[in-house]
Amino acid sequence: MTVVDEIKNRIDILDIVSESVKLRRSGKSYSGFCPFHDNKRTPAFVVFPDSGTWRCFGQCNEGGDIFKFIMKKEGWDFNETLRYLADRTGVELQPQTEGQKEADEQYDRLRQLLEEAVTFFRHHLMQTPQGKTALDYLIKRGVTRETMESFGLGYAPASWEAAVQHFSAKGFSEKDLLDVGLVSQRDNGGIYDRFRNRLMFAIRDPNGRMAGFGARILDPDDVPKYLNSPQTPLFDKGRLLYGLDLARKAIRSEDQVVIVEGYMDVIVPHQAGFANTVSPMGTALTEDHLRLLKRYSRRIILALDADAAGEKATLRGLEVARQAMDHSDEISFDPRGLIRHEARLEADVRVTTIPDGMDPDEVVLRDPEEWRRILAAAKPVVVHVMETLAAQKDLDDPKVKREIVDQILPLIEDVPNAVERDAYRQRLARMIKVDERTLVGSGAGKTTARRKPKNIQQGVAPHKTEAISANQLAFSLERHTIHVLVQEPEWLHILDRGLQKLHLSRLDVSDFEQADFQILARSVMQSLEQDEVEPEPYLQAHIPENLQPLYQSLIKEPVSQEKLQQRLQEDLIRSIMKLRLVRVNAGLQQMRFLLEDMQEQGESGINPYQDLILQYTLLRGRLDNALGRPIQLD
Ligand code: UTP
Ligand code: MN
Repeated sequence: MTVVDEIKNRIDILDIVSESVKLRRSGKSYSGFCPFHDNKRTPAFVVFPDSGTWRCFGQCNEGGDIFKFIMKKEGWDFNETLRYLADRTGVELQPQTEGQKEADEQYDRLRQLLEEAVTFFRHHLMQTPQGKTALDYLIKRGVTRETMESFGLGYAPASWEAAVQHFSAKGFSEKDLLDVGLVSQRDNGGIYDRFRNRLMFAIRDPNGRMAGFGARILDPDDVPKYLNSPQTPLFDKGRLLYGLDLARKAIRSEDQVVIVEGYMDVIVPHQAGFANTVSPMGTALTEDHLRLLKRYSRRIILALDADAAGEKATLRGLEVARQAMDHSDEISFDPRGLIRHEARLEADVRVTTIPDGMDPDEVVLRDPEEWRRILAAAKPVVVHVMETLAAQKDLDDPKVKREIVDQILPLIEDVPNAVERDAYRQRLARMIKVDERTLVGSGAGKTTARRKPKNIQQGVAPHKTEAISANQLAFSLERHTIHVLVQEPEWLHILDRGLQKLHLSRLDVSDFEQADFQILARSVMQSLEQDEVEPEPYLQAHIPENLQPLYQSLIKEPVSQEKLQQRLQEDLIRSIMKLRLVRVNAGLQQMRFLLEDMQEQGESGINPYQDLILQYTLLRGRLDNALGRPIQLD
């Protein structure tokens, strides 16, 4: 048994879900309001204790196991969820392998080296004549000595070998120094100090462990203005936020985080009592960053330079965003990306406008109260973009009106919450002085249709399927298909073509409700999207450590007695179709239960599941039909 199974055996999905969702028993399942989308009228969220799964028959139309529930709710990745649930259930995770242990010890050593480097640079800042310029510079920028201490600020002397000599004398090897990025390598093999005559900023991980340095010039003629540690295992800019180690507590207690652009924009506000401030250090905000933050608060304020936020919010930014949207994890500061991530992560993202030409640190130094007002005036992304666009245009010009509508409406349509969406539409209509109905006509039609009252009696005639056994059948079909695919990753192409010939959609990770199978499925897909190595070694190397036992056992276990490759391939295609059919049937039945429940409770005749029932019924027809015909391979 894998640790995942072990955990599932020990924990009742009802206990976990009940912590955040009020559940009502209905037959063999339990239902309540979905925690992942906003709706307090239709209890479309169903938990199946027998199979340990859940599904939302509302807007999400998504389901999964206990792992997926926690991942989605907390914004954690699989490993974090595994650690949490293992801890909670007392299941021991795989003991570390020798290799891992060694790597961990090496990281600890490197962190120790970085820690000593903080002391080294601090000494040069506070206690050497050379450091005086740096010290004066910091004081001029309003930083107190106490803050210099708490943020681990320092000075790297103007020398090619000060650090090399200091740390070599302490017994650190050239390799260690290179590994943490304190030195660079000469072409002829020697090493020299990477940071020279610079102000040093210690960058720590959220737990306060050293990760790397940022280094600002003191001589205006030097370049680049800021030099950071190179990407090392300890220093991954996409996952680190400057100041988070010191901001964590405040972010939690104030239930709000402020994101600024630079180092000084973190330090000065902290000193003035705005301790919930962090910075992605000049790089684009990534979804990893937001996930990290979401553990402490969902309420995020972007306080970026006036020009950056302003320009990105304009036409050009939107166009770029739309093109880049599906290919990039970077949120950057483009509005469309933000809204999508905001929805997915259930975050509340707001944007501030900073007075022209000023940075947050300067505003705070000038007047902390002004900064407080600016933060309080932060606007939702859509409103911010609307106002930025409007500020630059003649709103009486019909062409301008249309341009703005074309820009903003797609953004509004991306907002998942209907009430919010309506409010934004009204606001847009008011702003450009047009009738709101015109806006609905120009592309908002589908949302109106979704909310049209429907007759409760229409179109429900699900197949008779026992819900529990259906869920168990689904589990074994999921396992079977993933079993085949990890052994023969390249058959994914055959599977996808087979499905498409039958006018069915290609394999999607959402075909899997079990989080561990879903991750394996995604890995299989990724193994085919890269062409650096063959899919098999790619999988070996990229399956997360904690899923290796499952993966290894699936690799070893024979799939079936069948020797004919063609039969196995046909069977693979059929398995996915059966899996979808089982799920569609179970879903239809479940929705009928939910409707009956509603009627018993004397609810009005509106059928909130109308659209999904129609969709499922059509899919069922297609699946029934396809399963009745022979499979055609290429
Ligand atoms: P800015 O150029 O806006 O600098 O870069 P700043 O933060 O206002 O710096 P001060 O106030 O002049 O000291 C914003 C952030 O982008 C990153 C740094 O994290 C910086 O704080 N950056 C900037 C780099 O990493 N490299 C660079 O060359 C420039
Ligand atoms: Mn600045």
